[in-house]
Amino acid sequence: MKDIERAKKLAAETGAQMIPDRSIIGLGTGSTLEYAIKELGRRIREENLKISAVTTSFQGQLLAKENNIVTLNPMNVSNLNIAIDGADEVDPDGNLIKGLGAALTKEKIVAAMAQRYIIVIDETKKVTQLGEKTPVPVEIIPDALTLVKCCLKKMGGLSSVRPDQSKAGPVVTDLGNLIVDVEFGIINNAQSLEQRINNIPGVVNNGLFVDMVDEVVVGSISDGQARVERQTFQKRACQI
Ligand code: 5RP
Repeated sequence: MKDIERAKKLAAETGAQMIPDRSIIGLGTGSTLEYAIKELGRRIREENLKISAVTTSFQGQLLAKENNIVTLNPMNVSNLNIAIDGADEVDPDGNLIKGLGAALTKEKIVAAMAQRYIIVIDETKKVTQLGEKTPVPVEIIPDALTLVKCCLKKMGGLSSVRPDQSKAGPVVTDLGNLIVDVEFGIINNAQSLEQRINNIPGVVNNGLFVDMVDEVVVGSISDGQARVERQTFQKRACQI
């Protein structure tokens, strides 16, 4: 296994071990979360853990099923004890860019429902400032494409509709929408940008997650040695 995969797996398994028995949890999406879900499956088998989960994607739903995790309809859940997810960029204050897996809207709903929100990443996801490596993914209603691109341009963002790698045409999200990836360069005020993007008619939500995280678990490998580091933050954003 490559070092980066080992680092992801270590962070994900550490995060999954932080899930308490008899909790209702949120499960994010992506390759790091896949390791976390498998580890939860192992704990259910070997430790007889009793948990149920709200998933954030079709991928998560399938993985939960394969790993004997009971899934719940989020409409029937008022809040979650804890949620675990990956991220594409994490800044020193625990703010995130998410959405390269196109599941950002459901992921933000679950993050807001969770009493504790834990992010699991390998060290390549750490940045000094958001926007260093990753564009901001924005989920939009297809009819609004022209309007949204125009508004984003006025805000200094260069947008492109995300193409699907396996079919001709764009990525269509699990919610039936498009993803526009927007290059803003270095982002100096993520909170204001998050709100301004969400004010554009036709935008469902965007991949900036500001002040939502309680803890980031970072896996790294150096000189062949696996290491895990945990950082905690003061969450301030909405929580129910
Ligand atoms: C999906 C996401 C993922 O959490 C993010 O893209 C990280 O994925 P990976 O663990 O595969 O790097 O935001 O919408």
